[in-house]
Amino acid sequence: MNPNKALWEKGDFTAIAALMRPSGEAVVRSLGVTLPLRALDLGCGDGTTALPLAQLGAEVLGVDIASNLVAAGNRRAAEAGLSRLRFQEGDACDLQGIPDDSFDLTLSFFGAMFAPKPFDVAREMVRVTRPGGRIVMGNWIPNDPTSFVSQLLKVSAAFTPPPPEGFISPMTWGVDTHILERFGKAGIPSERIGMVRDTFSFSAPDQSPVQVVELFRRYYGPTMNAFDAAAKNGSEEELNRQLVELAHSFNRSSNGGTSIDATFLRVTVQN
Ligand SMILES: C[S@@+](CC[C@H](N)C(=O)[O-])C[C@H]1O[C@@H](n2cnc3c(N)ncnc32)[C@H](O)[C@@H]1O
Repeated sequence: MNPNKALWEKGDFTAIAALMRPSGEAVVRSLGVTLPLRALDLGCGDGTTALPLAQLGAEVLGVDIASNLVAAGNRRAAEAGLSRLRFQEGDACDLQGIPDDSFDLTLSFFGAMFAPKPFDVAREMVRVTRPGGRIVMGNWIPNDPTSFVSQLLKVSAAFTPPPPEGFISPMTWGVDTHILERFGKAGIPSERIGMVRDTFSFSAPDQSPVQVVELFRRYYGPTMNAFDAAAKNGSEEELNRQLVELAHSFNRSSNGGTSIDATFLRVTVQN
């Protein structure tokens, strides 16, 4: 089994994506899209950004490595009556069957960054986007003290065994030099690559920070793996304590719910 696929099929990311809907819609509004638009959402999950993009009138293909999330996305598209939104299984490292220059916009929010071969990912995104089109990525920034997700991944990694030799951390997609190098190798000069810090929010008005941590523990692959590893040496409670402390420290809600901000790097490439 491909470990990248196994990681994301292990849990049920739809439980986390439910906290991301308002920010997903805000991201799509911020793109300033004009129709007609053919869009690819890569590492789309169950459609946090793909669905609002289709609601604006774009023709959207969502590609994700996790079959359970592809199925969830297709269910959401059918429920919303969006016939121009479709989800299919695929790997961001090798977009087999997708012809060159297929899309005006390729979007990947916290998706393609998790694919194991970043140079292949950059090359594939450039290949399937038409010349003059746009690629927009949202990537977590490593060790960022202003990002709940970066800190959550950092704490989770501290409890997980070291990755195999040669593993490239997804967080390197949050570092400007790596981004310039990867897209540079794919033929994009640096003046066509923009990078700005932006903020994404996780919103759970009816759930406490403790309950939100429980969601990550039960459904979010990287955190599930950390708890599995922690269970082997009795450090589960310590991991839980650190994550709850983190969630409390980021929480902006004052009425018992959870509202947490996470800084990310927004990368825009003019193809
Ligand atoms: C943190 S989730 C984000 C999902 C979605 N973009 C959202 O914002 O809700 C990461 C997603 O990337 C997908 N993913 C990871 N590796 C991938 C790969 N190699 N190719 C395609 N999708 C991948 C996962 O299955 C998962 O749906």
